[in-house]
Amino acid sequence: MKKIIVTKNLPFEIEKSFKNYNLVYNKSSEPLSRDKLQKELFDADGIISMLSDKIDATMLENAKNLKVVANYAVGFNNIDVDYCSKKKIVVCNTPHVLTEATAELGFALMISAARRIVEADKFVRQGKFKGWEPTLFLGDGLQNKTLGIYGFGKIGQTLANFARNFKMNIIYNSRSRKRHEENLIDAQYVTFEHLLDKSDFLVVTAPLNTSTKHQFTENEFKRMKNSSVFINLGRGEIIKESDLAEALENGEIAYAGLDVYEFEPSVNKKLLNMDNVILLPHIGSATVTARKEMAGLCVQSVKEVLEKNNLPWNAVNKNFIVDK
Ligand code: GLV
Ligand code: GLV
Repeated sequence: MKKIIVTKNLPFEIEKSFKNYNLVYNKSSEPLSRDKLQKELFDADGIISMLSDKIDATMLENAKNLKVVANYAVGFNNIDVDYCSKKKIVVCNTPHVLTEATAELGFALMISAARRIVEADKFVRQGKFKGWEPTLFLGDGLQNKTLGIYGFGKIGQTLANFARNFKMNIIYNSRSRKRHEENLIDAQYVTFEHLLDKSDFLVVTAPLNTSTKHQFTENEFKRMKNSSVFINLGRGEIIKESDLAEALENGEIAYAGLDVYEFEPSVNKKLLNMDNVILLPHIGSATVTARKEMAGLCVQSVKEVLEKNNLPWNAVNKNFIVDK
């Protein structure tokens, strides 16, 4: 019997899907400790891992049977993919199925920041609403504003499409220029510096890798408009969180909305006490539909590899595993 590990409770029929497997399914709310996971991996054939599991070389060193790591996320910076490729372990992620959900959350953050939704809600709960006022919680609209997208993958493109209907002007910067997609959406490719200079809303949807780590620090925030809103949907380490807190405090930028954190799950203390930042607990893909489909895709990926010896379409290292 093949052995499969699922490191967290998923909204999917995992037991039914793996009834012919030796299934190690962590249904408790506590994560599997590193030690325990490493031991379980020793004779496992596959694993469905979470973005909070660090699957590095040490973790995989003694995983002698492992053939597939299916990560329950689109981002896979928690996995040492190079090491997996060397060991001929297929690494899969869950693209596409979470695109709309994540872009929607980005848009929710944009509107919530622009219209000060969270602050205003707190104001009412605190009993401070004493009647309609012409100047109460004045915010800014989206119309005719410039949306700058950093990372123009599926999520960034979907967000751009939403923004188009709100009559926003769209610019983007990403590792590679995407001419076909930019024409479809009517978005303009700009340099990174131009993105900083011109964006009224700057949204990060890029993946974390060595070239995006700490892309946004003190200097970048200084360069942005004082009235701008900064949103991060990608990974926390793309920004230096303490620099963001300072920029918000000093008025170098006006507002921020974060779904991810540099030292997740801990959040910069300063940010916790600020009104001009919205803080969410990494819920970009958290819709019932997206999370079910992500689980289904992980199950399917594991089975493709273990039962059919196929390379799934969503394998991220398919070009590096040579003799499959
Ligand atoms: C969530 O952050 C993901 O990468 O899917
Ligand atoms: C990254 O930008 C993505 O949309 O996958």
